Amino acid sequence: MTDAAITAAAAQIAQAQADKALRPTIAGFFDEATNTITYVASDPATREAAVIDSVLDYEAASGRTSHGSADRVIEYLSANDLTVTWLIETHAHADHLSAAPYLQEKLGGKLAIGAEIIRVQDVFGKLFNAGSEFERDGSQFDHLFTDGETFRIGNLHGIALHVPGHTPADMAFIIGDAAFIGDTMFMPDFGTARTDFPGGDARQLFQSIHRLLRLPDETRLFLCHDYKAPGRDEFAWESTVKLQRAHNVHVHDGVTEDEFVAMRTARDANLAMPTLILPSVQVNIRGGHLPEPEDNGVSYIKIPVNAV
Ligand SMILES: [Fe+2]
Repeated sequence: MTDAAITAAAAQIAQAQADKALRPTIAGFFDEATNTITYVASDPATREAAVIDSVLDYEAASGRTSHGSADRVIEYLSANDLTVTWLIETHAHADHLSAAPYLQEKLGGKLAIGAEIIRVQDVFGKLFNAGSEFERDGSQFDHLFTDGETFRIGNLHGIALHVPGHTPADMAFIIGDAAFIGDTMFMPDFGTARTDFPGGDARQLFQSIHRLLRLPDETRLFLCHDYKAPGRDEFAWESTVKLQRAHNVHVHDGVTEDEFVAMRTARDANLAMPTLILPSVQVNIRGGHLPEPEDNGVSYIKIPVNAV
């Protein structure tokens, strides 16, 4: 089967591997509270940058938000004289709130996510019984990426890939020789993302992962989360296609789709829901904005009882 988007992504990566000027500088910021990595990918020549998967700190007990994690990213950007052109979400996260609106207010840049977010908005709009003021058309974002779509960060080339499975809207973003693969694969010793959220699909995730594993062996893969793993005490978030194909405990070469689906489904049945799933999803389907304040000026986050 031909896959024009993957072929184009592989060509872009090979070109950047051969030409240093086409490779991004990458900084990863690990958030211990949610095990999330926020990335800044920047063009050393033009100083343009993309921020990928930012984190808004949120304390569930008090319902308070704060900006320590986002401010660390802002400090890095200003210390390195970087201008933000894109604020990218790989998907509507279920374990942390996005800080994209906060960053956008301070720094500018276009807020973008995958076009299938409208399906996620539809499912969760119903779950939270959101009123008609909650548009399910992706209009909370400045741009909706589709599979194979190209973009630029200064002189660097980017390609968006639709990699559903964890959620229907998951995207991977190839920037120069680096791939930001969101919640598809994690470190080889940890495996893959869960597929039991509404709209998740283990078979689709396997197929999406196998698209990514067709990229060149030395492609730098940057993961969205890390949880350590038995025998590993340090957090880690960078891998390669070659390492994943050889060692990923869930999807190394030789694992069949049916084997993967059986393993993933059995494993998901035993996973607890992420602590912040209900606040995260409610905010992230709104592009990281809190629900409209009520007439007392306060925003409320709903908890559907016995519904998830
Ligand atoms: Fe996720």
